[in-house]
Amino acid sequence: MLKFLTKSFLPKSLLGRSLMIVVMPLVLLQVIAGYIFYESHWRKVSLTLSRGVAGDIASVIELMRRENGKNNFNLIFQVPANHMGLSMSYSEGKILSDMQPTASGKMEETLAKALREATARSFTINSEKIDRHVVIDVQLSDGVLHVVTARKRLFSTTTYIFLLWMVGSSLALFAVATIFMRNQVKPIRRLAEAADEFGKGRDASKFKPEGATEVRQAAIAFIAMRERIQRHITQRTEMLAGVSHDLRTPLTRMKLQLELAPETSGLTNLRDDLSEMETMLSGYLDFAKGEGGEKQVLTNLSNMLNIVVSQARRKGGVIDLHVEGEINVHVRPKVFKRSLINLIDNAVRYAEHVSLRVGKRESFVDIIIDDDGPGIPEESREDVFKPFFRIEESRNLETGGVGLGLSIARDVVRGHGGEIILDTSPVGGLRARIRLPY
Ligand SMILES: Nc1ncnc2c1ncn2[C@@H]1O[C@H](COP(=O)(O)OP(=O)(O)OP(=O)(O)O)[C@@H](O)[C@H]1O
Ligand SMILES: [Mg+2]
Repeated sequence: MLKFLTKSFLPKSLLGRSLMIVVMPLVLLQVIAGYIFYESHWRKVSLTLSRGVAGDIASVIELMRRENGKNNFNLIFQVPANHMGLSMSYSEGKILSDMQPTASGKMEETLAKALREATARSFTINSEKIDRHVVIDVQLSDGVLHVVTARKRLFSTTTYIFLLWMVGSSLALFAVATIFMRNQVKPIRRLAEAADEFGKGRDASKFKPEGATEVRQAAIAFIAMRERIQRHITQRTEMLAGVSHDLRTPLTRMKLQLELAPETSGLTNLRDDLSEMETMLSGYLDFAKGEGGEKQVLTNLSNMLNIVVSQARRKGGVIDLHVEGEINVHVRPKVFKRSLINLIDNAVRYAEHVSLRVGKRESFVDIIIDDDGPGIPEESREDVFKPFFRIEESRNLETGGVGLGLSIARDVVRGHGGEIILDTSPVGGLRARIRLPY
């Protein structure tokens, strides 16, 4: 439950989350402070103010009662007009028809309460008749007393100012927190981007450790790891190239000697073995050459596929190619082309009809190669990626291959941050899917 709540309500980004951690207590504090202020302080202040006005009115009524009989209250009314901010008049013989306060609101309720306490007479309150003033009519025994007072006498405007300050200051705090937090999050984002770039086989050498100690530590560890992996790859490539290259010389010598030897049946097999070894070695060399040094460039995938497919067609493959729109990806063109050729060659070699579809998905490009051949049984789908692994040995087909094609293809695609997934095609053959991030 809690997990669900945090998952659905918490912002996804680190910046969002940290800002929420800062802002939540702030908002909570403000709400509590505002509530306490409103509920106790403001109410008390308003009641005190209303009691003041009600008391003033009550004292005037008391004075009028003492003047009883003369019915000329102008002299009395001068006092509230001059000293209390209350302008009063008297309508003799009038009776208040409406007994209820006309307007209802917090201020009016408070005032009504105070008036009830102070005068014990019926009255009406109207705060809308005159702008920023309140009109109070009080029923006396033989007439109605009209009182007009400024709202200011009943209402504490500091409330608004206080609230404004509260909201304003928290907004300012939020802005400052956003700026600071963004600067803290930036190095983490840069690290994530660098790791992502490196995973996709792109150059991320511009990356430098920065930010808080922990982030810096992670960045330094990442750089060390990257160098280790790069060293490892270079070493492997160099060794592969060295061994292949060095083996070539004795191999050529052996071939020469074979040419000179007298023709017997046993030698033909030897010759075949030697030429197979040569193919393998040149495959290794090609791979080693490609892996070393080639830079990623933005490549038009449909152009590349058109070239590869037309080459395969020339060799007799029946291929149906379909590319959705124009797709450009960052790849090392030579090696990536190699892995495409390997997959398409396999399909052409082991099947009759091949369908090739390419489409852009959310964050990756999908290259799907379907064929109608025998396919690869599920339990061998991992093994076929191993160097020199061939099902044909048990299938006993005359399909000459070394068993390096898929291993090279997977190595290359993984080097681009992608993956090759083997599956069953809709027509029962093999479906090879290259998933390439971009
Ligand atoms: N499209 C396919 N249909 C059926 N089997 C396949 C297909 N692609 C590959 N295989 C099987 O997987 C094995 C490994 O393929 P891989 O491309 O690595 O080697 P290869 O094709 O035998 O030799 P190479 O490609 O090095 O010349 C193949 O020997 C074959 O048995
Ligand atoms: Mg192959």
